[in-house]
Amino acid sequence: MKGKKIVIGVTGGIAAYKAAELVRLFVKSGAHVRVAMTLNATWFVTPLTFETLSGSGVISQMFDREGASVDHIRWGQDDVDLIIIAPATANIIAKISNGIADDFLSTMVMAATAPLLVCPSMNSRMYINPAVQDNIRKLRERGIFIMEPGQGELACHTEGPGRLPEPEDIVEYASLLLAEQDFSGLSVLVTAGPTVEPIDPVRYITNRSTGKMGYALARAARRRGAQVTLISGPTSLRTPAGVEACPVKTAEEMMQAVMDRRSSFDIIIKAAAVSDYRPGKTADHKIKKGADSLTLDLVKNPDILAELGRTKKEHPCILVGFAAETRDLLENAREKLKSKNLDMIVVNDVSRTDAGFEADTNMVRMIFSDGRIEDSPLMTKDEVADLILDRLKALRENNAGSGC
Ligand code: PMT
Repeated sequence: MKGKKIVIGVTGGIAAYKAAELVRLFVKSGAHVRVAMTLNATWFVTPLTFETLSGSGVISQMFDREGASVDHIRWGQDDVDLIIIAPATANIIAKISNGIADDFLSTMVMAATAPLLVCPSMNSRMYINPAVQDNIRKLRERGIFIMEPGQGELACHTEGPGRLPEPEDIVEYASLLLAEQDFSGLSVLVTAGPTVEPIDPVRYITNRSTGKMGYALARAARRRGAQVTLISGPTSLRTPAGVEACPVKTAEEMMQAVMDRRSSFDIIIKAAAVSDYRPGKTADHKIKKGADSLTLDLVKNPDILAELGRTKKEHPCILVGFAAETRDLLENAREKLKSKNLDMIVVNDVSRTDAGFEADTNMVRMIFSDGRIEDSPLMTKDEVADLILDRLKALRENNAGSGC
């Protein structure tokens, strides 16, 4: 979103408060945001809130500012990348659908050349009203993007469709609309997160993976147009919008999920931190405290990546592994690249606090099967994900991926 110019239109619904978080997220992602409010929206949230969050003046009236007479024309023009109306009430949807321009926001939208994303939010009976549905259909037919509202309990204590999608989902949808679709037509499988290996019904062996790196890869591939499946161990992260999620717990479950699906992917990226060992036996009941020491018998888990590499001839794809190392990074990663028959391995130093596990940032060394090595600077995991995808795109284009 860095440098993108976004105009957010806020209309008078209770979900207007969520627009504040939306503005914050866009600004955090590096976008320049301007906010236009309807007068009704100002009953719910003050312009000052949006001015503070966006760092720009907010317009809520057509004629309230000196010399602002053509702002409604300027705001939606070519240098704006996207206009988003969130929340969009039945009223603004009807106005856009029927060409009514009677306030700043509706007039700006009518004069706009930038793409428009509308995020309806209203009481569910209003939302399913045929008049509203007709208006939404007309907007879709005109090429306006509409996000489906969420289901659930609404502010008016009724249940049904009409909730404003979560701000994170709106940002993700917007980034999908704005991104270059250079992975369109490709299918990508990403594994992410830790595996958990049960000892008894209340205890397990796991590791520090949060899933952030793998989810960033899935999100980036989806944003760039790929069909993405994300096989993930337990994490607290939300599945990126538009990504097919396959939750698993143990290494054996991950192995099964990967092998069941592997043949349909152009690219497989194994960012998951898979437990190398699991307890040989899972106790049926909680192990009682007794002796001063307790020995656990561990058995080796299947190496999913090695198995993918071993059978790559029968299932051609670009195969990417990660290596989590604390010393001898290059030697260890090279050994894994070779022994697991990979096209590329991404090694990160997991002894650092700003890279590898848990952090929002990472610094990686990418090693390719032809011997090339490339280091990244310290970047956000989202940026690292895009960098990895750039290199995978080049690999495909040069046909350097074995068998692809
Ligand atoms: O999730 P985060 O908190 O964001 O942290 C990111 C990360 C540190 C987990 C990630 O960047 C990373 O390094 N993932 C790989 C972790 C790992 O298991 O590394 P490894 O060196 O032990 O394994 C090498 C490769 O073999 C990995 O691609 C792994 O998925 C795969 N493997 C390992 C063991 C096994 N039994 N099966 C496997 O497929």
